[in-house]
Amino acid sequence: NMFPRDFAWGAGTAAYQIEGGSQADLKGPSIWDTFCHEKGRVFEDQNGDVACNSYELWDKDLECIHQLGLTHYRLSFSWARLLPDGTTRHVNQKGVKYYNKVIDDLLSSNVSPMVTLYHFDLPQALQDQGGWKSPIIAVLFDSYAKFCFQTFGDRVKLWITINEPYVCAKLGNEDGIHAPGIQEKGTAAYLVGHNMLRAHAMAWHSYDSVYRREQKGEVSLAVNSDWLEPLRHDHEEDIAATERNRAFTLGWFAWPVFVTGDYPEIMRCAIEAQSIKVNYSGASRLPRFTSDDPVILGTADFFALNYYTSRKVKPGQGVERNICMKSDRNVEEVLDPSWPICGVSWLAVMPCGLRKLLKYIKETFNNPVVYVTENGFSQVGMLQMEDIQRAGYYKETILEVSKAIQEDGVDVRGYFAWSLMDNFEWADGFSVRFGLFHVDFSDPKLRRTMYRSGKEYSNIIADTNNGAFL
Ligand code: NOJ
Repeated sequence: NMFPRDFAWGAGTAAYQIEGGSQADLKGPSIWDTFCHEKGRVFEDQNGDVACNSYELWDKDLECIHQLGLTHYRLSFSWARLLPDGTTRHVNQKGVKYYNKVIDDLLSSNVSPMVTLYHFDLPQALQDQGGWKSPIIAVLFDSYAKFCFQTFGDRVKLWITINEPYVCAKLGNEDGIHAPGIQEKGTAAYLVGHNMLRAHAMAWHSYDSVYRREQKGEVSLAVNSDWLEPLRHDHEEDIAATERNRAFTLGWFAWPVFVTGDYPEIMRCAIEAQSIKVNYSGASRLPRFTSDDPVILGTADFFALNYYTSRKVKPGQGVERNICMKSDRNVEEVLDPSWPICGVSWLAVMPCGLRKLLKYIKETFNNPVVYVTENGFSQVGMLQMEDIQRAGYYKETILEVSKAIQEDGVDVRGYFAWSLMDNFEWADGFSVRFGLFHVDFSDPKLRRTMYRSGKEYSNIIADTNNGAFL
């Protein structure tokens, strides 16, 4: 058997992407509810009001999970469903009941839940008070996290505090293409990232000091990263650009948590240098951690990685005399024409990039336990139920994971496909399908049907359990 005995075979989803029930049972609005209802934000002005209606159709999701033979299921809690105004002053018992049922149903059929506390959907009430830009958010997130540990932690043993802080910070607060849609160049994203690290660390410390002994679970944050390599391996500038690009993506969050407790030096230097170049006279744009902040170093019990694609890197043009992350980072990413494109344009399929990235993580972050918390391929355009190409990619990628374990000695403990089923893909709405199950969004019953790629994944899981895979 090429995979460790207790290897976690999972699939993931996120609350706003699947649940619907956006106003059901006293749920409070989140920033994604608000964002989607503003004109021109999302593909064809679509929204997650109903999505896969998992709030009412959870039973159907559970059937999909069983059909795949998953050992684990990764879901996220909607903060505003549990705490409508974001604070523990008002608990929505209907929300508690919903997630209790999900967790209990999973456990009674031998599937372990992995729960993400924050997957992009901040309660609107907290956005109205400054959202992730306000330092108070860390305290509010910590209270929410403690409430969840207290309420569900007897049964949930794998926790992700925040999913993809990079995406929240950059896409949500600098580019404005995700909620809350803030377009503010050069400071907001760094501030948001900073408060996300503070919030994550507070929650980890709460778990560590109050709940760990009894609940015996593990807590981390999920970072996204492409595999990045120099365009020309023998060019100093390309190598430096790659290092810089890594510092601004994976390094931004993983370096403080796993290596030094602070941002990568390369990142800070690049930001300061750009500030000088454009005569920016404000304070340092990349905040510093002070003695009032929670200790950041060591606040992850495992490394949670979301991997989708690979890029080659060379220096940017350096002409943008701007205060923005793009100028600070000053790199250009290119695709190798030989890499097949799957689905959305950003998704060049590179199964071997995952193996390289896993090895890099082992070497850079002190050989942590790793879960691949997301990996997947999308379909766009013409619907294919017999998605042979995607099925093949899954198989190839999982083979690369097994090589990372066997040949590179990376301590990978689990793999979660994204996603269990087609769902609301943020700014792309329903036009991009990542599911192992097809969802017919024109059918009032929102019927789920397994794709060929789902069948492939279920075969892989069954074969590995029998020791027959590969
Ligand atoms: C990252 C996000 O965590 C998830 O919500 C999204 O659907 C997938 N990647 C695909 O873009």
